[in-house]
Amino acid sequence: METRVLPFSDDAIAEAARLILASQPVAMPTETVYGLAADATDAEAVARIYEAKGRPSFNPLIVHVPDLAAAQEIGRFPDEAIELAARHWPGPLTLVVPLQEDAAVAPIVTAGLSTVGIRVPHHPAMQALLRACGRPLAAPSANASGSISPTRAEHVLKSLGGRIPLIVDGGPTRRGIESTIVAATGGPLRLLRPGPVQVDALPASGSRIEAPGQLASHYAPSKRLRLDATSAEADEYWIGFGAIAGDASLSPSGDLIEAAARLFDLLHEADSDRKARIAVAPVPAQGLGVAINDRLKRAAAEG
Ligand code: TXA
Ligand code: MG
Repeated sequence: METRVLPFSDDAIAEAARLILASQPVAMPTETVYGLAADATDAEAVARIYEAKGRPSFNPLIVHVPDLAAAQEIGRFPDEAIELAARHWPGPLTLVVPLQEDAAVAPIVTAGLSTVGIRVPHHPAMQALLRACGRPLAAPSANASGSISPTRAEHVLKSLGGRIPLIVDGGPTRRGIESTIVAATGGPLRLLRPGPVQVDALPASGSRIEAPGQLASHYAPSKRLRLDATSAEADEYWIGFGAIAGDASLSPSGDLIEAAARLFDLLHEADSDRKARIAVAPVPAQGLGVAINDRLKRAAAEG
């Protein structure tokens, strides 16, 4: 299959909507990472996502909708979830809530769970596509299963080229790491995945069952990666931060927002460099640094 790359425009969105309604998956920019979108009401279309990614089928997908009203047709939102949605949507927050009984979402999307992860993205391209096709869109990150999330159209092309018909190119993503995931399924809010939005919720410690995509090695590059590196060996590609310049820096000024936006970009760069291993300078585990360190630990985990 030939993979076309079209810059974000009205024409590109019209073509993307045409493919979505013809049960094809399309790679789209969002404010976090590129997503591989398909019609969430169409089981066959969603199956093509799994096929293109080579993803284990027990992994539930995030459903993207244009606004809270559309979200409430799919999930049952307790008051705390509505409050979070009001504060952070559109934006990089996914809420896991109980699935509505008559929700028009194919069971393959939730992997048969009675809960559903929903997000209202901020990116104008994804918003335009949602409105153009009038369907909720299931979209995991647009990379082959187990590899680094894509923050540029080129990353998607490298990982999924030949396996999907279209990539809409919206340039590098602004946030650079995947959405914060919070479960609001009764009882206190639980943080399933730290991300760009800081939410006051208890970390769901080691809860692999609730967020099965959070396998330890989920974000692994193909090389050995060492954390908290205050020095580097000759065969290590050194990713710097703040005072540590390294071969390339997440943020020379120590800005965590800039570091998050550049994280997967630099992991991709380090992975394709001729040096055999990767070392990463310490990044403080505060604020957005919590999400950055979470992704780095997963990237460092072997197997
Ligand atoms: O920023 C993002 O969230 C990006 C963009 C494309 O929206 N998407 C993304 O999707 O990161 P993905 O599939 O790579 O990660 C989705 C995570 C997985 O860890 C999955 O297990 C979890 O969301 N998830 C989805 N539905 C869930 C549910 N009902 N219960 C628990 N975890 C769920
Ligand atoms: Mg992913």
